[in-house]
Amino acid sequence: MEEFPRIKRLPPYVLAVVTDLKAKMRKAGEDIIDLGMGNPDLPTPKHIVDKLIEASRNPRNHRYSASRGIPKLRLAICNWYKRKFHVELDPDTEAIATIGAKEGLSHLVLAVMGPGDIALVPNPTYPIHAYSVIIANADVRSISLTSGEGDFLDRTRRAMKTIWPKPKLLIISFPHNPTTEVVDLDFFRRIVEFAKEHELLVVHDLAYADLVFDGYKAPSILQVPGAKDVAVELYSMSKGYSMPGWRVGFVVGNRHMVGALTRIKSYLDYGMFQAIQVASTVALNGPYRVVEEAVEVYRKRRDCLVDGFARIGWDFPKPQGTMFVWAPIPEPFRAMGSVEFSKFLLTKGKVAVSPGFGFGEHGEGFVRFALVENEHRIRQAIRGTKAILQAPVKVRVR
Ligand SMILES: Cc1ncc(COP(=O)(O)O)c(C=O)c1O
Repeated sequence: MEEFPRIKRLPPYVLAVVTDLKAKMRKAGEDIIDLGMGNPDLPTPKHIVDKLIEASRNPRNHRYSASRGIPKLRLAICNWYKRKFHVELDPDTEAIATIGAKEGLSHLVLAVMGPGDIALVPNPTYPIHAYSVIIANADVRSISLTSGEGDFLDRTRRAMKTIWPKPKLLIISFPHNPTTEVVDLDFFRRIVEFAKEHELLVVHDLAYADLVFDGYKAPSILQVPGAKDVAVELYSMSKGYSMPGWRVGFVVGNRHMVGALTRIKSYLDYGMFQAIQVASTVALNGPYRVVEEAVEVYRKRRDCLVDGFARIGWDFPKPQGTMFVWAPIPEPFRAMGSVEFSKFLLTKGKVAVSPGFGFGEHGEGFVRFALVENEHRIRQAIRGTKAILQAPVKVRVR
């Protein structure tokens, strides 16, 4: 069989181990509570769906659209940024619509990286942050987000001293999937300063911009004066606006990077279905209340999950951001590792979670819950877990 060099560099998805097992069990008739994949389950707000229906009836929207997004959508993106972050952007040169943040990130990295280039990527991470670099035939240097001296930036500074050739790109994302770690604006100030000192480009994935709790506000890296000299930011309509299947996101900031992405996308696609772009424009220009309502649903699920697990003796902190909860494997099971523990939770407790190892070796020792089932189902998951968590304790007592 012929070998495909780019495919050879893409290992099988670790997260698929649990997903495949879950599919098999469901096929066999098991009721699995699926807190595995971060696939938002809330319906898209009605006025956005209504606009899609209306726009899709208009034959003008049936033709090829603009690869970088129609002007009204790019203007809506810039106005949204101005309202939310007080950041000024030029819709012609500093904003591009993408087919979801994932597509935007992969093609951006493909556009700016090549063989011999190095990107610094936190570990654990949302997989495409590392694999976009691999797909571009460039190399990844992982910086641990969970262990080592100092904070992530201190570790990055130390790594920078020993890496040759000099890294070209830093890919970060806060609020962070999977660890739920959040940062303040001062962190981004230091990142921008560091990037300028080392002539690094920065890609910041702000997919969870809206999903924040308890008064915490996620800053944009572009709020740092001069950030546009080195950084772009990605946003996703999938999370706050509950539009994951629509595939809409955008990239804003540094005009050279936005320009490179615009160029490569002009070769690859004709843009999203125009009716989707029209409806997304309405979403961004419309009431932010719809996002806040979704956030409140996720907050209640978070509280239900974290408080419920604490009651059965599995304690972990409440995240301030994202739609995830990041939990250390309970001590009696830690030696199993996160993949085996996730399989165990699935087969014995009928609860699907994502093993931390699936996000990189520094995610080992943890599992990630996605808050994508309702509170009733979350309580069912806690009951399912209770019996198995208590089993080895009995064994130990005997
Ligand atoms: C950090 C991060 N970025 C991007 C995405 C995907 O966004 P989109 O649906 O816009 O491609 C996800 C989805 O889980 C994510 O966690």
